[in-house]
Amino acid sequence: MNQTVEPFLKQAATAAGQSKPHESAHLHVTGSAPYTDDILELTGTLHCALGLSPVAHGQLLGIDLDAVKAMPGVVAVITAADIPGRNDCGAITHDDPILADGELMYLGQPVFAVLSADREAARRAAATAAKVIRFKELPALLTPQEGHAAQDYVVPPMHMVRGDAATALAAAPHRMDLHVDLGGQEQFYLEGQISYAVPRENDGMLVYCSTQHPSEMQHHIAVALGLHSHHVQIECRRMGGGFGGKESQSGVFACIAAVAARKLKRPVKLRPDRDDDFMITGRRHCFYHDMALGYDDEGRVLGTEVSMVSRAGFSADLSAPVMGRALCHFDNAYWLPHVAMHGFCARTHTQSNTAFRGFGGPQGAFAIEYALDSIARQLGKDALDVRLANLYGVDTNNVTPYGQVVEDNVLQPLLGELIASSDYRARREAIAAFNAGSPVLKKGLALTPLKFGISFNVVHLNQAGALVHVYTDGSVLVNHGGTEMGQGLNTKVAQMVAHTLGLSLGRVRVTATDTHKVVNTSATAASTGTDLNGKAAQDAALTIRKRLTQFLADRHQVPAESIQFANDCVEVAGNALPFNVVVTEAYMARVQLWSDGFYTTPKLHWDRETMQGHPFYYFAYGAACSEVLVDTLTGEWKLLRADVLHDVGQSINPALDIGQVEGAFIQGMGWLTTEELYWHPKTGKLLTHAPSTYKIPTASDCPEDFRVKLFDNRNVEDTVYRSKAVGEPPLLLPFSVFFALRDAVSSVGGHKVNPPLRAPATSEALLDAIDAVKAAQAKA
Ligand code: MTE
Ligand code: MOS
Repeated sequence: MNQTVEPFLKQAATAAGQSKPHESAHLHVTGSAPYTDDILELTGTLHCALGLSPVAHGQLLGIDLDAVKAMPGVVAVITAADIPGRNDCGAITHDDPILADGELMYLGQPVFAVLSADREAARRAAATAAKVIRFKELPALLTPQEGHAAQDYVVPPMHMVRGDAATALAAAPHRMDLHVDLGGQEQFYLEGQISYAVPRENDGMLVYCSTQHPSEMQHHIAVALGLHSHHVQIECRRMGGGFGGKESQSGVFACIAAVAARKLKRPVKLRPDRDDDFMITGRRHCFYHDMALGYDDEGRVLGTEVSMVSRAGFSADLSAPVMGRALCHFDNAYWLPHVAMHGFCARTHTQSNTAFRGFGGPQGAFAIEYALDSIARQLGKDALDVRLANLYGVDTNNVTPYGQVVEDNVLQPLLGELIASSDYRARREAIAAFNAGSPVLKKGLALTPLKFGISFNVVHLNQAGALVHVYTDGSVLVNHGGTEMGQGLNTKVAQMVAHTLGLSLGRVRVTATDTHKVVNTSATAASTGTDLNGKAAQDAALTIRKRLTQFLADRHQVPAESIQFANDCVEVAGNALPFNVVVTEAYMARVQLWSDGFYTTPKLHWDRETMQGHPFYYFAYGAACSEVLVDTLTGEWKLLRADVLHDVGQSINPALDIGQVEGAFIQGMGWLTTEELYWHPKTGKLLTHAPSTYKIPTASDCPEDFRVKLFDNRNVEDTVYRSKAVGEPPLLLPFSVFFALRDAVSSVGGHKVNPPLRAPATSEALLDAIDAVKAAQAKA
């Protein structure tokens, strides 16, 4: 693989800006990084397994608990009646029961919990669910189409309007109506959901939890147990991946473990296996889009009407903010003068869908890309030229449909660089020549841009806290509110603290996220982990640096400005004093060597009613060019080459950033190609609930020729180290893979017909689209 990092190596003299290994890399690769399940179990620990609803929608008549209790090894069975406080773990709306009560809302919903000293015994007893749960079946909504037709929405419909779309559509020289089907996606974190609840003295409850949102877990458990927040402590050292799936959806497991632990006064571990994890938790929302587009001869979009319908599942969960982000990202990189968008979160009696990398942004942006790709083919133009014709301008045509001015637009130079470095135009010709001489194997090519807004759309969530402790030996301990899920947040935060205090990275250690340390934290989500927690930790480190500077300025009678922190030393009047000597002296002089830090993102405002405002602090940009080879007889395909140019501002750690870009690219490619979710059309049972039936990409799906480069840039906003968030935006890069596949399919019909290719573009979907193209050709 080909990675380019040079622009950043030059300027890096300190811990920040350098490619450093992930803080736990040496532990990961030697199997010595403890995850929640690796924490040594206390004597008396019970294992928990969940009995799941066997029906998509029903009235819960009763549970034959005696039969479950009679199973070998069963210590106790817990139901909704055992929850002392509120039976709810809904992220925003209180419509998410911890254990089903009265109504069964989806096939897979937890109804009871079995406790046993032996995990397998608990699982065997829980597996009797279908026999012991008595219910009366009710009519179920199994598709978003059904939910939409019934106008059954988990939250009220949303509307985002700018200009007069209807008039612009009517006046446009051309019109196109489009329907786009876009599948959902399972997070498939390698470490599944898990919580280990340990009762503590005086009503305390400690829960080790694999979660992106410790504070929300603390809150849910306190409310469910009828306790205060200060009774409940959540600790998360690391997750084996979260990808949005452990933002709200860790709640049900954390709550059940805590309820059982409190009732039985014993530690309780709840680790569902992969199939149960699939059956219980939600994932990326499937969407379908119905669009009407008016455009001119150049392919410039003049008027757009869009209706987006998502599969919300049985409860609200995060469906509203996910839809909000979908609406805010429909524009992607393009100026849309007149647009009317409508978002519907359709209720279905299936798992409640939730956050997944990009949080609706990818679903929204995919729609406009599909539209531009279709318009180009209709006009007989190269799709890239239609994309370029619609790009946001720098001084004009630069206002988003939600009223935010795009202030740091680098789309033109970024695309220009990628078009040249990927050799797009020459390869387009070469591919046309190849296809002309190759009746079965067809190549396709596409280059797609992205623009992604950074910040939580909900203003108050954009805050973070941190604690920095300096010990008298000069070592530093950092704690912050963010969580580590493999993305490298702790490494970047440590780099920023080391950078601020002029220390080498080895001096700084980051500890587990703990609600008893930094409080009222936001989820580590929306890619804001480093932006928020990096700034908060830097704020704390700066406070300590200022105190040390003042102490040294007074002691040595020099101006504070002359004192420099670098190379594990403090330079004072020409002398490099070792940092540990300085802090020991400061301690003796009773200088406070630890500090808290706090950060709030500036400039943000958002009106939820009108869906207008300034929801994003800044935008991240990127583009990718992908070339595929499709076997038009079998639908098999291969990604031959991918070129990526991605904007992370000034990188704090190029190695980690490139890792994020590559990972997101492959993960997004899986979403759009091989990962297909299938619910039984009559029972609503998710049939793709294991790796046997749900295909995520593997190492062999990575292109042999993968050229990933970071765009040479600095954030125009005052972010930490002038960097940009990287977690989610690159998930949009593999749009280029999907549209390269569509291009290859379209070559079957001489690029005259728009292939009705659905996502994911599985081999089956590719063959369906090829058949449709051939049928349309035959008719013409
Ligand atoms: N990278 C790894 N290795 N594992 C993950 O679970 N989650 C992604 C992204 N990158 C994830 C990841 C998601 S959904 C988000 S929002 C961000 O990381 C969160 O972390 P950050 O804000 O620190 O970038
Ligand atoms: Mo990421 S979907 O915001 O956890």
